[in-house]
Amino acid sequence: MKIHEVIITSCDKANNHHIAPMGINIIGDEVIVRPFKPSKTLDNIRETKSAVVNFIDDVRVFAGIVTGAKRKWGLKKIRGDQVMRLDDTNSYFLLRVNSENDDQVRPKITCDILDKKMYRPFLGFNRAQFSVIEAAVLISRLGMIPMDKIYKELEYLKIGLDKTAGKVELEAWSWIEAKLQNFEIENDS
Ligand SMILES: Cc1cc2nc3c(=O)[nH]c(=O)nc-3n(C[C@H](O)[C@H](O)[C@H](O)COP(=O)(O)O)c2cc1C
Repeated sequence: MKIHEVIITSCDKANNHHIAPMGINIIGDEVIVRPFKPSKTLDNIRETKSAVVNFIDDVRVFAGIVTGAKRKWGLKKIRGDQVMRLDDTNSYFLLRVNSENDDQVRPKITCDILDKKMYRPFLGFNRAQFSVIEAAVLISRLGMIPMDKIYKELEYLKIGLDKTAGKVELEAWSWIEAKLQNFEIENDS
């Protein structure tokens, strides 16, 4: 099934917001979100029954969160709802949970789209943006997949990065490299 890489914003009842990259499915007027257990995103969606899908072309948000280089990003209120959107998102879908299929590893949460808004056209990912998203997925799995696979894939992804990156993508890549270095130092014993 086709997966869109997005940023999910969610909050708990006490209004503590959380931002996380996720892959979602869009089927007509429904969105399926599949957060792993345990995750803050899952807890929040269960608590408030809502979330926002942010479609954003600033790939630093993906890299910043999974590397820990920058976890906080500007948020803006959506009129009439508690959960906020990314300030700089190109567009968003506001979701309300419709049903949940629980699972030991990765529950499947089906949501209705209550509202959609577009602020800036999404011009499509270039190769550098694609490389950062792929690298962010690899980094989010550090310790779970073999290091030689990570190095090999990063080396390949760097080709597209070197050919097409702007300042934003280079900054995101520097966070990926720093995270990898720290991971190597921490695990070199
Ligand atoms: C592009 C991308 C897609 C991801 N998709 C998912 C996903 O569908 N489900 C998930 O649980 N984590 C996914 N992750 C990893 C989460 O973003 C990461 O583990 C995050 O910390 C989620 O946990 P949290 O809600 O507790 O922050 C993805 C990461 C990236 C970079």
